[in-house]
Amino acid sequence: MKMQENIPLQDFTAFRTGGRARYFSRVKSIAELRKAVRFAKEKKLPFFVLGRGANLLIPDAGFSGLVIKMEMKGIRFKNTAFVRRTANSGAARKKNDTAVAIARAGEDWDSFVAKTVWRKCAGLENLSLIPSTVGAAAIGNIGAYGAEAKDIIFSVQALNTETMKIKKFSNKECNFGYRESFFKTNVGKKYIVTQVSFILKKKGKARTEYKDVQEYFSQQKIIAPSLKNVRDAIIAIRTKKLPDISKVGTAGSFFKNPIVSKRKADALKKEYPDLPIFALEEKRAKLSAGFLLDKICGLKGYKKGNIGLWNKQALVLVNYGGGTTKEILLFAGDVKKSVKEKTGIKLEMEVQVI
Ligand code: EPU
Repeated sequence: MKMQENIPLQDFTAFRTGGRARYFSRVKSIAELRKAVRFAKEKKLPFFVLGRGANLLIPDAGFSGLVIKMEMKGIRFKNTAFVRRTANSGAARKKNDTAVAIARAGEDWDSFVAKTVWRKCAGLENLSLIPSTVGAAAIGNIGAYGAEAKDIIFSVQALNTETMKIKKFSNKECNFGYRESFFKTNVGKKYIVTQVSFILKKKGKARTEYKDVQEYFSQQKIIAPSLKNVRDAIIAIRTKKLPDISKVGTAGSFFKNPIVSKRKADALKKEYPDLPIFALEEKRAKLSAGFLLDKICGLKGYKKGNIGLWNKQALVLVNYGGGTTKEILLFAGDVKKSVKEKTGIKLEMEVQVI
């Protein structure tokens, strides 16, 4: 394990902002991870784990502790003749209907998804092209196009940085929610995710219920899409709507889709009949933040200095170059204020601030 000092973090975050890390270490195994954590503890320094930095804002002043760059790699596929429970429902499954994929936390998410699709194992194809590592995908319960990581995750393995022991969490113990998990809570933050296992379906059907996906297949005249067709569709849709992270600084959706009372959602729907509403339960509904920003507040493409809201997806905040974390946070504050004034809704950030 090499310990580096004063490393600029700009190159490690998708927003391309942030100062330097006092200490920086790449970890490739559990042994190296333990060493890094011990180093920080001995020096009484704070530490945080960096994956692809795709959903992260680092202060311009940098980070005065240790940044642990998660680079633990390895993927295994198992046939799972004896796995009889799905991650969520616990429903009995016939032998050989499912496969298990186990990936280390530092694996690149999309390369992993590609491997599952290549093996014709269903479950992750709708989550194609999301910039993430496997570990971060579990921690943030990534979701897109009708799928969420939590629906396919079987268990998560993590290092307890207090006892230095490895613990395995069942899907239930991860306490997944919309872009949330136990690992994001104050108690959960003492764990560093090292490995995630997924249950995939060998004869699974493609999920195409999301509006953009349906439109894509009807345009392409594909009636019974394969998993590969779905992956290609998602890649095409995302590439068209979302900015290219190799060209501009961005973390995808900057805010979460807000969850409001059913009453509030109905009142807004009366005023704006096209507003997309996703019913969650009897009394609460999830609204489209993109719609609020675009159609209600007229902020799609709004730009101030180096920062703006993407002209094809208003929920995506972009650093056009040279912007700082401070500018991003000020801009986001202005946007939140406009939405609050116009709709009474308080947007919450999806992006994590260190
Ligand atoms: N909309 C607009 N204007 C916009 C953007 C959206 O009117 O500028 C409306 C449209 O009616 C559209 C609807 O909002 O049909 C939904 O938009 P979209 O399909 O782009 O999805 P989203 O709700 O804005 C969520 C996730 C994305 C994910 C997409 C697709 C969140 C915060 N975002 O966005 O995830 O890719 O669904 O499933 O949940 C991410 O988390 O970084 C991310 C990109």
